[in-house]
Amino acid sequence: MNLKPDDKNFSDTFAEIDLKIFNNNFKKIKEYARRKNGDTKICSIVKANAYGHGMNVMAEELSRQGTDYLGTADYSETAALRNYLDSKKLNRVPILCLGLITENNELTESLAGKNIEFSVADISSAKMLDNIGKKLNRKPLIHIQVDTGINRTGIKTEEAYSAAAEISGLKNIKVKGIYSHFATSEIPGNKYSELQLKKFKTAVKEIEESIMKFELRHISNTGGILNFNDGYFNMVRPGISLYGFYPDEKKVKHRIGIEPVMTLKSKIKFIKELDKGESISYGRTFFTNRRTRIASISAGYGDGYPRALSNRSKVFINGKFYKTTGTVCMDWIMADIGLKDKIKINDEAELFGRNYPAHKLAALTNTISYEITCNISSRVKRIYRK
Ligand SMILES: Cc1ncc(COP(=O)(O)O)c(C=O)c1O
Repeated sequence: MNLKPDDKNFSDTFAEIDLKIFNNNFKKIKEYARRKNGDTKICSIVKANAYGHGMNVMAEELSRQGTDYLGTADYSETAALRNYLDSKKLNRVPILCLGLITENNELTESLAGKNIEFSVADISSAKMLDNIGKKLNRKPLIHIQVDTGINRTGIKTEEAYSAAAEISGLKNIKVKGIYSHFATSEIPGNKYSELQLKKFKTAVKEIEESIMKFELRHISNTGGILNFNDGYFNMVRPGISLYGFYPDEKKVKHRIGIEPVMTLKSKIKFIKELDKGESISYGRTFFTNRRTRIASISAGYGDGYPRALSNRSKVFINGKFYKTTGTVCMDWIMADIGLKDKIKINDEAELFGRNYPAHKLAALTNTISYEITCNISSRVKRIYRK
């Protein structure tokens, strides 16, 4: 008999992904985004393996739920996703890759023939795609990326007009859209976001008045949708809200009823009783303050549970929270479960999820929920529930 390492019964650590919640989150953010412009298209962001949730399944679900676009960041990830969706006969939904492609190689050419749209942040990439279009006799579809102030990638707003004029002269590509990205959209009323919005609107209007019309104009991520939605733009790019989080849990003003999709669970594999004053795990960073039991849970930073949570986080076992104790190891987390509670080997421990949202872990380590779910490693089996 062949071993089946994938078997659910073999995985002590697994991420439960609730597709019902996911679909509901999609519905909530879509409805909110369409309050100002009923025609706003939704480009659901599934980059970075759908923020750790599993890109293929999440993109498939979104396609079936009626997303207008899927957004990725890496061209190789995009190719894999296109192949997967095509194999499921889901070729209707275009994928917009938000990453930049600057080399003409086999991958670039193969993508150009598929239902994939490119981000263009400089003239030379536009020309490269134009050459590919000429060679293939098929126009690659592009979105011009304008940098209105995040200063990451994109054509500077001040240069957008002349760049658009030059791009409009390239006859073997088709400009489908224009977009920008906020730096601080998670903060309601933020002046810098307002400035970015204004700059972008002005640039787009100027280009549309005398160079070309865009089918799609977009700037809003989740924060933008919640805080800076402007009906002039006709597509939005929600990411984190689909997975059940607000970009900044403390600053959010508009709660729209989204819930965390991923719950990370593992099992208790060992329980020992220790006297007061005994140390736990590497580096002896924790000492018991009484006689107690310590449960060893078989997950660790090898699964993406941050080591920085050592002696800071809690775990949720049989309806109750327990403190983690000692340094988080690659494969083990220890928790102080006291002497009284009925806890036994193979009981489940929720490391984060429905009862203990990932944003709480994020806050403990000065990061964001995005990073917590993105980092759940490939050895953690994703189990999808509907
Ligand atoms: C260009 C772009 N658009 C949209 C998003 C989605 O943002 P969020 O997850 O905050 O909704 C991202 C995510 O980082 C992004 O880089």
